[in-house]
Amino acid sequence: MKTILVGGQYGDEGKGKISSYIAIKDAPDIVARGGVGPNAGHKVLYDGNWYSLRMLPSGFVNPKSKVMIGAGVSVDPEVFKKEIEMTKTDGRVFVDKRCTYITPKHKEEDAAAELSKKIGTTKTGCGPSVTSRARRDAVLMQDVPEMQKYVIDVVEAVNKAKNVFIEGSQGFMLSVLYGTYPFVTSKDVTASSIAADVGLGPTSIDQVIMVIKAYTTRVGNGPFPEEIEVEEAVKLNFQEYGTVTGRPRRTSPELHWEDLKLAAMINSATQIAVTKVDIRFPGNDGKTKYDDLTTEARMFLDQVEAKLGIPVTLIGTGPDAKDIIDRREEML
Ligand code: IMP
Ligand code: MG
Repeated sequence: MKTILVGGQYGDEGKGKISSYIAIKDAPDIVARGGVGPNAGHKVLYDGNWYSLRMLPSGFVNPKSKVMIGAGVSVDPEVFKKEIEMTKTDGRVFVDKRCTYITPKHKEEDAAAELSKKIGTTKTGCGPSVTSRARRDAVLMQDVPEMQKYVIDVVEAVNKAKNVFIEGSQGFMLSVLYGTYPFVTSKDVTASSIAADVGLGPTSIDQVIMVIKAYTTRVGNGPFPEEIEVEEAVKLNFQEYGTVTGRPRRTSPELHWEDLKLAAMINSATQIAVTKVDIRFPGNDGKTKYDDLTTEARMFLDQVEAKLGIPVTLIGTGPDAKDIIDRREEML
């Protein structure tokens, strides 16, 4: 089984939580990351500890899974090594030899560029590293001496393995192709590109899980319909802060249906995961059975299924990986 998980909104849908649950439950041979690079921030609560990750996939939580970063991802060795230390995963973490190396210069460029100010980038060097790659003057992981210990051919590994779980990063509305250009990240982040990032072709993918949050947030600049003031978001308990940048996220209390329909289509999503249902609908904290959800929450999930025409298989009801309703067996 090869499964891809992608974000259906502006990033920060709670992909980390869903990924960590799937890694524990399904025990994939490999958990691999696609997407842009360390601009992504995932927060994972596992065994009572919070982990803030930017390079490693959230699926690291299963000690039986090998942890890999696909060729399409730009890698910052400093961040990478810190996360291996923090997660105690040394010995089972690998990067593809073709990954782009994020140099200190890329980070400086990202922090300084006028365009970055306009877009509100994460200043992690991702955009400039992608530019270098396109200019054909980037350095690849296979040529970085300090990284040799981790360098392998991820393509071979993921194509050979039986059970592979691939985590995308960012979200549909931040795709350089389909998002709110120019207020987007530097790559396409839909399922086809995430597959290509790790070296899997389209027909090798069995399932695409699109994660959406029960309300909408955006960090950084760009169009954002039905945005509410911070004060109001605080009252609703929707106010969030960026994992990488610490910036307050912008909030829109509703789902943007037309965007989600397009996202589901382009990602060819086969399942939807809805996170933070407990935040949007109080009284659902930590529920693990669908029938125990409040009527309001169930009506909302029915609406998601009806509008998108895709089964809602995973429902997040709290921050811990165990706070989840998993309907995959009954629905697929
Ligand atoms: P960049 O990816 O750092 O170039 O930033 C481009 C835009 O995408 C900015 O608005 C960022 O805030 C946003 N962005 C990049 N990565 C993420 C993410 O993982 N979650 C949410 N927003 C992101
Ligand atoms: Mg994030």
